[in-house]
Amino acid sequence: MDRFVIRGGVPLHGEVSTSGAKNSALPALAACLLTEEPVILHRIPAVRDIVTMGKLLRRIGAKLELKAGALRVEVRSIASPEAPYELVKTMRASSLVLGALVARAGRARVSLPGGCAIGARPINLHLAGLEQLGARIHQEHGYVEAQAPAGLHGGAYSFERISVTGTEDLMMAAVLAEGETLLENAAREPEVGDLASLLVKMGAQIEGAGTSTIRIRGVARLHGAEHAIIADRIEAGTFLIAGAITGGELVVADCVPEHLTALILKLRQAGAEVAEVSPTSLRVSAPGPLRAVDVTTQEHPGFATDLQAQFMALMTQAQGSSLISETIFENRFMHALELMRMGADIRIEGRQAIVAGSSQLTGASVIASDLRASASLVLAALVATGETVIDRVYHIDRGYQRIEEKLARAGARIRRVREA
Ligand code: EPZ
Repeated sequence: MDRFVIRGGVPLHGEVSTSGAKNSALPALAACLLTEEPVILHRIPAVRDIVTMGKLLRRIGAKLELKAGALRVEVRSIASPEAPYELVKTMRASSLVLGALVARAGRARVSLPGGCAIGARPINLHLAGLEQLGARIHQEHGYVEAQAPAGLHGGAYSFERISVTGTEDLMMAAVLAEGETLLENAAREPEVGDLASLLVKMGAQIEGAGTSTIRIRGVARLHGAEHAIIADRIEAGTFLIAGAITGGELVVADCVPEHLTALILKLRQAGAEVAEVSPTSLRVSAPGPLRAVDVTTQEHPGFATDLQAQFMALMTQAQGSSLISETIFENRFMHALELMRMGADIRIEGRQAIVAGSSQLTGASVIASDLRASASLVLAALVATGETVIDRVYHIDRGYQRIEEKLARAGARIRRVREA
């Protein structure tokens, strides 16, 4: 397993570019199952989760071809409407094929995702929604079987709690259903809107994506399309925090500033300067000492839970006490334990963490537990004195495209040590 070796203390300068969003590319790949015609996707990030989804699609019957930086996906027929445990256990987002397979093939057999480091992460809401659209659901031996041999019909479904991939899964189920579907309390994340724009290019009829109420009118079939994935707001946000925590001046290019409003507000409240230097780039700097600010994670457009761990690293460098409340997942403070080993002063009380800053962090050997926790450790290492070794960086490779190369180009002393 690869590891990162980082020597902190260098303010970052220059420019980093943002890749396409992993959490938009994953549902976009699942959407290719909905047509027998080829779909061309641009700006697919080269990250592990995409490789995993590619393996899953091939197993289902897709042909994938990388041509001149674009991914061509063609699913002429469904060979096996299944997502096996050995793939799903490595990536929960595999459940995104559920709705598309039932819509295209009339059935799906998907391994239940099981938990992961940050929480239980059930898919009960996905399944309840599919039942509303006429699917018969049966769970056995750790798998869920969804059947709709006569096809799905429209229906009305209100999410009892907001679910990003739940909304995406049901959108993909509904686009080929007979009649109209109404999804209420839907997720408003930009990735939901990006999936809807791809589906509409494929011939789907969708209104309201990006709002809490999405209306879908089923069509008989979808056709091929070409689509560029939106920028990864979480990667861009991670780099903004990297510029702030190192006290440098960094331009984050190729991003969508309006997807980062909640983070930008908190960075400014903490004393960092964030300026839009173009419609697709932001400049961050932190000339003076940072101030502690409180953060509560919420569904978009609130403060993203996927930026909570990174922001916690920043708050270890801020004067005063910051209260960080995690409302989305039940166990998303694993990074705090490792930050404490680097000298951070953090107290965990249930879903709240109190960060007392600022602390002079010192390099240590630490271990990554999940994707965003590992990003948090990288950020802490960039400002810690001495050397930090981060083990199990395969977690970070799941969602960040060569993060060490991007950071090194901005001046960070970071290198990847390949394990034999
Ligand atoms: C998506 O996960 C993202 N993943 C996550 O990003 C992100 O943290 C999360 O949304 C919240 O923004 C992808 O888009 C591939 P949810 P998802 O369904 O859809 C509960 C990353 O770092 N819930 O919105 O799985 C669930 O347990 C990853 O890139 C149910 O109870 O999250 C959680 O507490 C991590 N039943 C809450 O809802 C369900 O059927 C929100 O989950 C579904 C969800």
